[in-house]
Amino acid sequence: MLKIAKVLVSAEDIESKLAEMGAAITEDYRGKDLLMIGVLKGAFMVMADLARHVRLPIEFDFMAVSSYGAATKTSGVVRILKDLDRQIEGRHVLIIEDIIDSGLTLDYLIRNLGARNPASLKLAALLIKDGMQQVPIDVTYTGFTIPNEFVVGYGLDNVERLRNLPYVAVLEEHLGAEM
Ligand code: PRP
Repeated sequence: MLKIAKVLVSAEDIESKLAEMGAAITEDYRGKDLLMIGVLKGAFMVMADLARHVRLPIEFDFMAVSSYGAATKTSGVVRILKDLDRQIEGRHVLIIEDIIDSGLTLDYLIRNLGARNPASLKLAALLIKDGMQQVPIDVTYTGFTIPNEFVVGYGLDNVERLRNLPYVAVLEEHLGAEM
């Protein structure tokens, strides 16, 4: 039985932070043709809710990526499970992530997407784990900095469950990849 130990970021706090981030994105991209790229699966919820606070005619696309198994999670080698539907050359691209931990997934994505010659390439992330990045990641729109705990909810899973929690929480115990 999975029990929530504590709520780390409430639904209300997420909502007001996304409203702030959405307002900033609206200002920064006014007059530009914005393409939001969500990194599946975790980013689906933040992408949907953040986009509702952006008052611009956004185009959406998605990528699905996976690291090569738990043992190589820190290798930075990322496998593309689903690539973008369309080319991004000359586009103003904003990558949307739920969480940045080691930063290796985004480091790979920034290099991969950057090589496709977008007009601009920026990042928005709801959560950043404090001090855990192995590579420097320049995040333009940040939600919350959180401690290094295993978090679930609001897109984040525990063995593919609990993504639908409306808040970000810490579990009393979790079924990690090592079990
Ligand atoms: C999570 C998250 C990021 C990545 C961050 O995805 O959505 O993409 O890990 O970790 P990193 O900064 O250490 O690279 P995950 O691989 O768990 O897949 P999911 O989104 O399908 O749950």
